[in-house]
Amino acid sequence: MPTGPQIILTLKVLVVTVTALLALSLVALAMKKPRLHGQINTVFFALTMLTVLCFEGFLQVVNVSELFTPEARHALHVHLYFSVPSTLLLPVMMATGKMHRRRLHIGFGLLFVTLWSGTVITGLGLPH
Ligand code: HEM
Repeated sequence: MPTGPQIILTLKVLVVTVTALLALSLVALAMKKPRLHGQINTVFFALTMLTVLCFEGFLQVVNVSELFTPEARHALHVHLYFSVPSTLLLPVMMATGKMHRRRLHIGFGLLFVTLWSGTVITGLGLPH
């Protein structure tokens, strides 16, 4: 059974990895390569969904209060306020991108990037 600090460290590595993909996808967009942007974000979507589902599933089966200190539990709670809405927006981002609903996609994109920034800041700030 991994320890609380090991889980938080793994989570941080995953958040940094997928954020690098999101940043690359925006670089692709700036280079006028929307298809590449879509391909990179498809990988970003799959990895992020997998991470969140595995992490949420894990939290359901372990005794959270045994693994994490009260401080870490509070910080995780705040982190989930950003990561859960970001994850719910991901399918919307994929759908509006694929359907070329450009204005809707960019509007949701700005909301997504704001929520994702919160996910990264609160994720990297987790105590381990
Ligand atoms: C601020 C963030 C984002 C901006 C400004 C943005 C912008 C765009 C733009 C301008 C296009 C081209 C639309 C068109 O051809 O009509 C596009 C396509 C696309 N985007 Fe995004 N996007 C963002 C984030 C995301 C995210 C987070 C995802 C998925 C997780 C995503 C997935 C896609 C997909 C799948 C396409 C279709 C690519 C294709 O034509 O094959 N985008 N995006």
